[in-house]
Amino acid sequence: MKKTYLTRLLTICLVAAGLFVKAQIVTIPVETQHNALVLQTDAQKNLKMVYFGAKLNDAQEYAQIAKMYNPNDDSGVLDDAYTPSGSANLAEPAITVTHADGSKSLDLHYISHNVSKIDDNVSLLTVILKDPAYPFEVKLCYKTFFKEDVTEQWSVIIHNEKGVVTLNKFASANLNLKADGFWLKQYHGNWALEMRPEESKLTHGIKTIDSKLGTRANLYQPSMFTVSMDKPATEDEGKVLLGAMEWSGNFREDFELSPEPSNYLRLIAGINNAAAEYHLKPGQEFVTPALVYTYSSRGTGDASRNMHRWARKYKLVDGEGQRLTLLNNWEATYFDFNETKLAQLLKDTKKLGTDLFLLDDGWFGNSHPRNADNAGLGDWQENKLKLPNGIGWLVKEAQANGVKFGIWIEPEMVNPASDLYKTHPDWIIKESGRPEKYFRNQLVLDLTNPKVQDFVFGVVDNLFTKNPDLAYIKWDCNAVIYNAHSQYLKKDQSHLYTDYVRGLYKVLDRVRAKYPKVPLMLCSGGGGRVDYGALKYFTEYWPSDNTDPLERIFIQWEYSYFFPAIASSNHVTDWGRQPIKFRVDVAMMGKIGFDIVVSKLSEKELAFCRQALTNYDGVKDVIWHGDQYRLQNPWTNDAASLMYVNDARSKAVVFNYLVNNRYGAGTKVPIRFKGLDAQKKYSVKEINLYPGSKPVVDNNLVYTGDFLMNVGINPQISAYHTSVVMQLDAMN
Ligand code: GLA
Repeated sequence: MKKTYLTRLLTICLVAAGLFVKAQIVTIPVETQHNALVLQTDAQKNLKMVYFGAKLNDAQEYAQIAKMYNPNDDSGVLDDAYTPSGSANLAEPAITVTHADGSKSLDLHYISHNVSKIDDNVSLLTVILKDPAYPFEVKLCYKTFFKEDVTEQWSVIIHNEKGVVTLNKFASANLNLKADGFWLKQYHGNWALEMRPEESKLTHGIKTIDSKLGTRANLYQPSMFTVSMDKPATEDEGKVLLGAMEWSGNFREDFELSPEPSNYLRLIAGINNAAAEYHLKPGQEFVTPALVYTYSSRGTGDASRNMHRWARKYKLVDGEGQRLTLLNNWEATYFDFNETKLAQLLKDTKKLGTDLFLLDDGWFGNSHPRNADNAGLGDWQENKLKLPNGIGWLVKEAQANGVKFGIWIEPEMVNPASDLYKTHPDWIIKESGRPEKYFRNQLVLDLTNPKVQDFVFGVVDNLFTKNPDLAYIKWDCNAVIYNAHSQYLKKDQSHLYTDYVRGLYKVLDRVRAKYPKVPLMLCSGGGGRVDYGALKYFTEYWPSDNTDPLERIFIQWEYSYFFPAIASSNHVTDWGRQPIKFRVDVAMMGKIGFDIVVSKLSEKELAFCRQALTNYDGVKDVIWHGDQYRLQNPWTNDAASLMYVNDARSKAVVFNYLVNNRYGAGTKVPIRFKGLDAQKKYSVKEINLYPGSKPVVDNNLVYTGDFLMNVGINPQISAYHTSVVMQLDAMN
């Protein structure tokens, strides 16, 4: 395969070079295993994106695509690969600038391109575009992950004008899609209401998905989207593009359906330029964050499995490694704990059988003790009343119980009731002439300021330096930015939203340089910051504070289009009215944790949880590292079904949950499995049985993969069996 890939790459280069000599037309195919994105210059050296879809068998034919379209586009640049503004283009631009001389006219022409192979699987195409009238350059970067069919696309902007250039808009990517209609699936939500999907057919004009919140940017709308082409894609059929911004701040994604007869979908994605123009000095590079996307002509299931594989291999910290199960005390105690209570919880951690105890919010602050969410943020010293012997004692006590210890922090924030607020008012984002406006009683620290970056890094570093055996950190971020004013940035206030995120990444870079593998959970009042820009530094994320398992089935289902199960922290809590078995079964499809009062569990409940954790040990490798198949959709059925299959197709686990309480609701027909080997025989065993209950699925039978995929098994989901988990093992 390596050889074919290289030969093909060579052909593409030759085709490109040959065409350049003949007609001054350059064709640049960006290929992955199944797909191609094709760029091509026109006679005026505009760079167009002329194709996006299934890879053609003969790479030479890419050059013939453009002339098949008659867009009746007088501007000639409607399908530009990075549309400038102020010259021929009159559609939504990817880039708008104000040159040093005040002109707002930008034109970008193809100069050259280069493909560098990073390794056998990863290549980087860079295309240089320049304005013929100004010393202004944009480099388009396409990093392709061949096997995974994933592309990360970003741009680098630089100029050599005689003064500062203002970037008024500076997108990461500008895609042009051609199809007979486009369907956009987007998400909205709020606290505890994450990932509510909406799908609609795009009409002419622009549909924008964006965030202007600064921090906790995904609170109302995340950047994840799917675009189906020709017709709405299903799990196993249809052409679909799945994408998201790798950025933890304000983003903007415009989906513009261009006029008849072209009907191109112009997708322009990047940092949100609202109140964020950027002043760029001569010679200074502006590197945008990446838009990550994957395309499949085989439905959303295939596309999301590609995204998962990419994320595990290339993005998440230790994405192909192990994770720790844990007991968290947030809902068990909230702020009300002391050493005696915690000592008991450490014992409970062991009793339950989890690997780690996670101490949540409330452990810090002395002059302003953190006994509620209105005080203490910023003062990261142990509260002497609650923890007279400090974290060190807790870490040791955990070890004495044979478990690890982790801790919650929210280092980017400050409560007005704190010492930090008094000692460093200059570190706080606020407009001094206005009354302070709080979100959850707190303000955001100004991470554009290197001193604040040092402080935030110091919060993490001090914890690890003082407690080298500390094994886990939950990093929270609960507020949005109001009164967006930085005392550090002075005249460059519009840099705040961009430089805040860059400051955050600088801190996280330092954390990872010093602590490369320690597990970090990404939390933002629930899922306010789940994006691949941040996940590059984290091992897992907190999808939502809503842990009602019924709700979680839907929330986790939707996240699963974009993020792999290994990254999803799912905790068993007391939210909702479901029995413990249902709660545990739902938490298992990801990285399981608990946030319950163990001592309140009945003997049977405790026995069930312990057994479930042992079962989890037997299947977690499949859930964390295997392929996920969404078998039956909870939005349109009485029951949800999902399964995970390992690479060797020798082991699988299938989860089934009742999501409808109406009379007679349940599974009436078998659920057809996916991803198995038709030739193999599998034993099917129901696991996570509640003590005293009998399996609903006959545990002594063996079926072929062929049978399981074509006929399936009815998990007998009903009001009497609200969740059923099955483990499949290939015989030999
Ligand atoms: C946020 C998190 C919760 C918990 C609290 C603590 O809301 O999402 O999980 O850590 O903060 O204050």
